[in-house]
Amino acid sequence: MSQRLRIEGLSKTFHGGSARSGGVRAVDDVSLTVDRGQTLALVGESGCGKSTLVRTIAGIYQATAGRILVGDVDISDRRALRRHRRAVQLVPQNPLSSLNRSRSIMHALTQPLRVHRIGTGRHDRERRAATLLEQVGLSPDYLRRLPVGMSVGELQRVVVARALATEPSVLLLDEPTSSVDLTTKGRIINLLLDMQREFDLTSMLITHEIDIARHLSQRMAVMYLGRIVEEGPTEEIYNRPRHPYTRMLVGSATAADPLLAPAAAGPAAVATGEVPTGGRPEAGCAFAPRCAYAAAVCTATPALRAVGGEHRAACHRVDELDPAA
Ligand SMILES: Nc1ncnc2c1ncn2[C@@H]1O[C@H](COP(=O)(O)OP(=O)(O)O)[C@@H](O)[C@H]1O
Ligand code: SF4
Ligand SMILES: [Mg+2]
Repeated sequence: MSQRLRIEGLSKTFHGGSARSGGVRAVDDVSLTVDRGQTLALVGESGCGKSTLVRTIAGIYQATAGRILVGDVDISDRRALRRHRRAVQLVPQNPLSSLNRSRSIMHALTQPLRVHRIGTGRHDRERRAATLLEQVGLSPDYLRRLPVGMSVGELQRVVVARALATEPSVLLLDEPTSSVDLTTKGRIINLLLDMQREFDLTSMLITHEIDIARHLSQRMAVMYLGRIVEEGPTEEIYNRPRHPYTRMLVGSATAADPLLAPAAAGPAAVATGEVPTGGRPEAGCAFAPRCAYAAAVCTATPALRAVGGEHRAACHRVDELDPAA
């Protein structure tokens, strides 16, 4: 059964990283809630900490600080995680690298069942594996096949099936539609929509494509250099993005697709450039070097605060810059 996912003050620092002294603060004091059965889209450019955040939630990395609650259970404690690991499943960014190339799809799907002692014996587990494949739209013939030689779209379906094997309450999807062609992308989106309807899953979906976030999520969180800079109902953020970084992301999405609302992003030249590689500055708004609106006030770190209803943004100048004001 699905459960609410709540993360509180979550941080992950990689030591021995490139940032001069204290390591790379890949995730820095992130608090988010995903209600039962809902999908939160996590958007942001490459290098902003999205994968690190979901890998920390999935228990692949030990959090440097903070709590991860599934329902009322804190899984950030290593021992609790072992007991609750099957409740949180991650579909990783690159499906092929997460599968053993020399073992069959049957092995990939029955292994989590064995590890978590699900099923009454070998035959039962094999039957479950066939059902899982069916649920993601692949025929049981694939059970005998090896990952090598399968298309990225087929592999993506296999890793989704494997994640569903343990009947998780929380599913984390790391860029499931990157590196696939347009047709496959459409199929994967439809698969995810079907899954949302069929299984009562709480999910977090990473994507750098705003239009995909819009299709698949009720809420959206925008991440920049380890922090959430904007969060709220997806349609509200899409139609009235408040942080200059979000306006840049929404603006480039709408500019690329003339069918999407052209006025959504407000002024075009809100921001430029790329994610800096040196990590977060010690103080001040991390987006300032790229922001057309940076001012003296931006040398202080902006807090995430309510900007109306359930919509939050972290920018000192959010009210005066509001294109709808
Ligand atoms: N295992 C790791 N060791 C050291 N640094 C890492 C590791 N994984 C990610 N990073 C760094 O953390 C930052 C965020 O990376 P990542 O979470 O992969 O971002 P995203 O998924 O948004 O592209 C980057 O600066 C990256 O270089
Ligand atoms: S706080 Fe300042 S630099 Fe940061 S996004 Fe807002 S206006 Fe730009
Ligand atoms: Mg990533």
